[in-house]
Amino acid sequence: MEIKACYQAPEEWAEREVEITGWIRQSRASKNVVFLMVNDGTFFKPLQVVVDKSSPAFETASRLSNGSAIRVEGVIHLTPQAKQPLELTAEQIDVLGDNAADYPLQNKRQTMEFLRNYPHLRSRTNTFNAVFRLRSEIAFALHEFFHENNFVYVHTPIITSSDAEGAGEMFQVTTLDLDAVPQNEDHSVNYKEDFFGVPAHLTVSGQLEVESFAMSHRKVYTFGPTFRAEHSNTTRHAAEFWMIEPEIAFADLNDVMDLAEDMIHTVLERVMERLPEEMAFFDQWIDKGLIERLNHVRESKFVRMTYTEAIDILEKVNDRFEAPVSWGIDLQSEHERYLTEEVVKGPMFLTDYPKEIKAFYMRLNDDQKTVACADMLVPGIGELIGASQREEREDVLLKLMREKQMTVEDYQWYVDLRRFGGCAHGGFGLGFERMVMYMSGMGNIRDVLPYPRTVRTLR
Ligand code: 4AD
Ligand code: MG
Repeated sequence: MEIKACYQAPEEWAEREVEITGWIRQSRASKNVVFLMVNDGTFFKPLQVVVDKSSPAFETASRLSNGSAIRVEGVIHLTPQAKQPLELTAEQIDVLGDNAADYPLQNKRQTMEFLRNYPHLRSRTNTFNAVFRLRSEIAFALHEFFHENNFVYVHTPIITSSDAEGAGEMFQVTTLDLDAVPQNEDHSVNYKEDFFGVPAHLTVSGQLEVESFAMSHRKVYTFGPTFRAEHSNTTRHAAEFWMIEPEIAFADLNDVMDLAEDMIHTVLERVMERLPEEMAFFDQWIDKGLIERLNHVRESKFVRMTYTEAIDILEKVNDRFEAPVSWGIDLQSEHERYLTEEVVKGPMFLTDYPKEIKAFYMRLNDDQKTVACADMLVPGIGELIGASQREEREDVLLKLMREKQMTVEDYQWYVDLRRFGGCAHGGFGLGFERMVMYMSGMGNIRDVLPYPRTVRTLR
């Protein structure tokens, strides 16, 4: 029997003989009875196993330690008056795997920092058990949303020769011997000797490749790992993170923002409905008020404000900021947080940034100064989504690329998409971990990634 099934329809299991396998989360022993809280991984809540002194399993139960893997045979009893709706009276217990005495996760509450030393064990704690089931459920709800809306899922490559964001924050992939790098006569690296014959990197975004599929399948998305060698050591940046990137043809920036908003609303609604136990746990232990806040977001339209309007607002309170604001600067998280936490008090889209501080592919607005882009900002986190309409005019795209000192030949295939039946199109990238943080209230990206990779940390 799976514990989840039992919790979902207790009456069906009443007085039935069952067998469960799982791990002991907690044990309490007295002279006449032992209580074991057993979690089998299928459900957030453990099942209480009661071992009476008269049971043949009593001896075994009394010496079991937390973390041990066991098999229990017994009978389910409903206990409507107790804290948990049912319990299992044990008749037989087999120890499948003892737990050694130096098990790091003892009963006392551990700090997140301590638990980061044990990525291979921490998913057994309540917090991380909830986080990783939430992570899975959000991923599923995202796929479901796009599938229901007739999007095609495209697997864009992980190894690439192009820098999709043009920010030069890529990890290099090579099979060259770094102690004896082959050189050309001018001492530059001879990449002809490297695996691909050209420099190769891990992708920072699947956008450029997924754009080409939007020109055949109209509504597409990619969802996979992305890599950034950013040296920002913050609670919101990881070197390896997942991104979901939809791209739609015959669409402008407003269509893209509508899609992003619809996606967030749908995912919030479905996941909150499907994981009530986990959400209640986060609300109680991680981030008080979380559920109420998310419920409010589910029902509200997101405010849309231009960068220029935001600068006007921020300039009036410049004395509050470490980095004062003026038109043209890239916004820091203190500015983003002021806008979404103090001004709007909820999620918002900030649109039409100056072209100098945004990527080369964003569509130039008629003012020739700003581009058709939108960052979705949310309280507590800042940027959750980066969106834009793409520049579909070949001549303007080439001009933007040259302004940013890019080598056009390296991106010729991308430019060609504008010559072969190009059309207005756009899309966005949702930082998947930031979405998990937003829905759980977890404060550090290291605690929503199963095996976090950040600058100077690889466990
Ligand atoms: O704003 P970004 O850089 O946009 C793109 O990569 C576009 N190509 C997306 C597109 O239009 N298809 O990144 C998108 C999102 C950010 O809003 C942020 O949530 C997340 O990815 N992100 C990170 N998450 C964790 N760690 C990092 N180092 C991140 N960098 C970006
Ligand atoms: Mg961005």
